[in-house]
Amino acid sequence: MRRFYTVFGVVAWFCLVGSVTSIGVNWGIQASHPLSPSIVVRMLKDNGFQKVKLFEADPGTLNALAKSGIEVMVGISNDMLATLASSSKAADQWVSKNVSSYISKGVDIKYAAVGNEPFLKAYNGTLLKSIFPALQNIQAAITKAGLSNQVKVTIPINADVYESSDSLPSNGDFRADIRSIILDILQVLNENAAPFTVNIYPYISLNGDPDFPFDYAFFDGASSPVNDGGTTYSNVFDANHDTLAWALKKNGYGNLSIIVGEIGWPADGDINANLNYSRRFNQGFMTHILTGKGTPMRPGPIDAYLFSLIDEDEKSIEPGNFERHWGMFYYDGQPKYELNLGVRNSSTLVAAKNVEYLNPKWCMLSPSASLDDPQVAPSVSYACGNADCTSLGYGTSCSNLDARGNLSYAFNNYYQKLDQVASACKFPNLSMITTTNPSIGTCKFNIMIKSTTTNGAQRIGSFRKCAISIVLGLVLCLLTLL
Ligand SMILES: *[C@@H]1O[C@H](CO)[C@@H](O)[C@H](O)[C@H]1NC(C)=O
Ligand SMILES: *[C@@H]1O[C@H](CO)[C@@H](O)[C@H](O)[C@H]1NC(C)=O
Ligand SMILES: *[C@@H]1O[C@H](CO)[C@@H](O)[C@H](O)[C@H]1NC(C)=O
Ligand SMILES: *[C@@H]1O[C@H](CO)[C@@H](O)[C@H](O)[C@H]1NC(C)=O
Ligand SMILES: *[C@@H]1O[C@H](CO)[C@@H](O)[C@H](O)[C@H]1NC(C)=O
Ligand SMILES: *[C@@H]1O[C@H](CO)[C@@H](O)[C@H](O)[C@H]1NC(C)=O
Ligand SMILES: *[C@@H]1O[C@H](CO)[C@@H](O)[C@H](O)[C@H]1NC(C)=O
Repeated sequence: MRRFYTVFGVVAWFCLVGSVTSIGVNWGIQASHPLSPSIVVRMLKDNGFQKVKLFEADPGTLNALAKSGIEVMVGISNDMLATLASSSKAADQWVSKNVSSYISKGVDIKYAAVGNEPFLKAYNGTLLKSIFPALQNIQAAITKAGLSNQVKVTIPINADVYESSDSLPSNGDFRADIRSIILDILQVLNENAAPFTVNIYPYISLNGDPDFPFDYAFFDGASSPVNDGGTTYSNVFDANHDTLAWALKKNGYGNLSIIVGEIGWPADGDINANLNYSRRFNQGFMTHILTGKGTPMRPGPIDAYLFSLIDEDEKSIEPGNFERHWGMFYYDGQPKYELNLGVRNSSTLVAAKNVEYLNPKWCMLSPSASLDDPQVAPSVSYACGNADCTSLGYGTSCSNLDARGNLSYAFNNYYQKLDQVASACKFPNLSMITTTNPSIGTCKFNIMIKSTTTNGAQRIGSFRKCAISIVLGLVLCLLTLL
């Protein structure tokens, strides 16, 4: 009898450890037609994501997360930093309105993220003055609200705040020009037992450097691994992560926990951004963290949020056309590829349910139109300027199109973005509506989804489902092992 209990205990422990591995995901909403929050929350649960990171405190999003059992990192956008830095009252109000009130509605807010990558060089230092006082004021407001144990305040930081002169992790340190601000931040994080949140992008490393060793960006072994005083690094994620770990250690914060706030690979819009590489990277990363081994400097579980959940067609493309293609799911919640997140017994991602599309019709270049028509150039630049042509061009999913196909793609994208309103397919003498899908090969001519504003309450039975799944999980584990 005693033996049975021991066996049962070990099995239960094993199963719990197995199911404790948790993976988070970034949920951004810079889309012309975002999926309704209740559909996305269902999708998060169906896929086994236990944590979500948000870039703002959007009411529809937060309300849909109430009682979902999903942990939330709520964000503060950069344009609020100056106000929050200069006014502790504004910080108190932000916490009261955007944290306390949702916690009382059952939203499991675990982190508040102050700003997003404020040290990015693209900001020209404009946020350097406000980031630290904003952190202090939000932390003080959280403490005042009695939430300091429950909600940790952090800043998602771009990985180029630290560097290594010879690219060995053990020579990592914070950049000299911002070290003093970083040290102030580290002190506040440490005092409050809050994590350092870093966004790590091997894709950007690869894209920015023509000599970057390609296989070092992925996780399936590198032809020339980095040897750091006897420690071998075979992927740039581990090396980058540990460059941070060394920088923290060198500055007296070797125990500060690290969260990987964003990690992922875009799937379109650039020669290095396609479905294969995106899948290879995301699967490689998941398999890596599921081993639970961590990195040489930080053995153990890695706390990470994949970037990202769904494509966003209104993101700025200043960094590149790939910016609108980071999702593991397309705009309509359809998965892009097979991916085993290790949290379900399946290698497939689960599509969003109950998504409604507009009618099956497309706008295209009419066969009688001439490419020499003087209206061609202004029409395509108008369509692309107002819609999304980032899947056109060298190395993209629609690079197989000819000039006429290009025009049709642009016209259709504009027509769908404007919800198929008839006037959006009236390019003079050039366009027509068709009910035959013009998609060719990898190039998809999309039909837009219906915009929804209602967030239906689809939360019935979530507790019961959870209890049942735990029981079933244990039974399955027992059956597998015995
Ligand atoms: C709460 O967050 C929203 C969205 O980020 C923002 O617009 C609003 O100003 C915030 N509320 C307060 C009181 O700061
Ligand atoms: C930063 O400076 C560059 C060049 O001076 C300018 O083009 C860009 O708009 C600036 N960005 C911001 C956010 O101020
Ligand atoms: C870091 O953690 C170790 C082990 O828990 C502990 O012995 C050490 O004192 C800690 N160091 C600091 C700087 O907090
Ligand atoms: C992706 O991989 C498949 C199978 O390995 C291959 O047929 C296809 O050409 C690849 N596509 C790209 C864009 O690399
Ligand atoms: C779960 O995974 C195991 C091992 O890979 C497999 O044998 C089993 O068929 C899977 N069960 C389901 C329901 O998919
Ligand atoms: C199609 O459009 C893309 C992006 O504008 C361009 O790079 C490409 O050369 C065009 N292809 C043809 C055949 O015109
Ligand atoms: C459309 O084509 C007709 C005949 O080719 C021409 O007369 C007319 O000016 C064109 N309209 C526009 C807006 O280009």
